[in-house]
Amino acid sequence: MGAKIIDGKQVAAQIREELKAEVIALKAKNIVPGLGVILVGEDPASKSYVSAKEKACGEIGIFSDDNRLPAETTQDELLSLVDRMNKDPKINGILVQLPLPQHIDESAILLAIDPDKDVDGFHPMNVGKMVVGEDAFLPCTPHGVIQLLQRSGVETSGAHVVVVGRSNIVGKPVANMLLQKKDGANATVTLCHTRTRDLAFHTRQADIIIAASGWPNTVTADMVKEGAVVIDVGVNRVEDASRERGYRLVGDVDFDAVKEKASLITPVPGGVGPMTITMLLYNTVESARRANGDYCTE
Ligand SMILES: NC(=O)c1ccc[n+]([C@@H]2O[C@H](COP(=O)([O-])OP(=O)(O)OC[C@H]3O[C@@H](n4cnc5c(N)ncnc54)[C@H](OP(=O)(O)O)[C@@H]3O)[C@@H](O)[C@H]2O)c1
Repeated sequence: MGAKIIDGKQVAAQIREELKAEVIALKAKNIVPGLGVILVGEDPASKSYVSAKEKACGEIGIFSDDNRLPAETTQDELLSLVDRMNKDPKINGILVQLPLPQHIDESAILLAIDPDKDVDGFHPMNVGKMVVGEDAFLPCTPHGVIQLLQRSGVETSGAHVVVVGRSNIVGKPVANMLLQKKDGANATVTLCHTRTRDLAFHTRQADIIIAASGWPNTVTADMVKEGAVVIDVGVNRVEDASRERGYRLVGDVDFDAVKEKASLITPVPGGVGPMTITMLLYNTVESARRANGDYCTE
């Protein structure tokens, strides 16, 4: 029996509709959520990510303050722009598109962002709050994973979750979020990486597998328990001469084989991907609410 597919596009669209309604309610109180966007340089992938984020903002009524800076921008110039946005009450969230050019110290820039406007959830203040279970801006991709699980009715309480990958942007935060003592979490979490002995031993015991390794076929069917839920965060290009662009996108999971054993699975593309920008919008709206003394009751 094949797995049910978790449709990330549909879940993302549903959350965006909810956010649109919240933005309308905020605007009725003369509050317009604003996102300050900073892109340094001409990297084509970064340009297209930033355009997609700004387009998504426009679609739900968030105002975006677009700042495209030349690659030669100095660290001091960038710090002054961040400082200006920190002080600007119209800006509720600040997004600095990474990677930055090599002459700029990324961590110095991320540290300079006011944690109350850190809608990417990368500032150590927000990371620390997340770990100790306090209210914090959650990083977008792992928060998207949690939303997909919750909105697909997956019970995480008491479940054994195996996360493959320990990066600061996906693996570590998603593992931390799932082990919190709160609704939508309460899982027993195993966090695996390249020094894990016998990855398959761990994944075979998982009720839920979250794959974030950055390599195709890291999780194959023999590594998955019958009926497990499989969330594939990976986005990898593999050569494909049949496609005009010469490649196609695949995840970290051998989708075709694993879907025959799993009960629920996310596809790539169309699974976790659409959730990332959606959770950035969510954090920006949440920040506007907080700045005006109105807290989310999620
Ligand atoms: N959909 C989205 O919006 C979105 C957002 C972010 C990332 N991604 C995708 O998610 C994937 C992971 O991203 P990332 O930034 O977390 O990657 P990353 O920084 O390269 O980290 C990969 C992690 O996976 C571990 N790993 C790699 N191969 C492994 C293996 N064979 N067995 C066990 N562990 C293994 C690495 O272990 P070590 O620590 O030991 O090296 C590392 O911890 C990538 O495909 C990326 O494109 C998607």
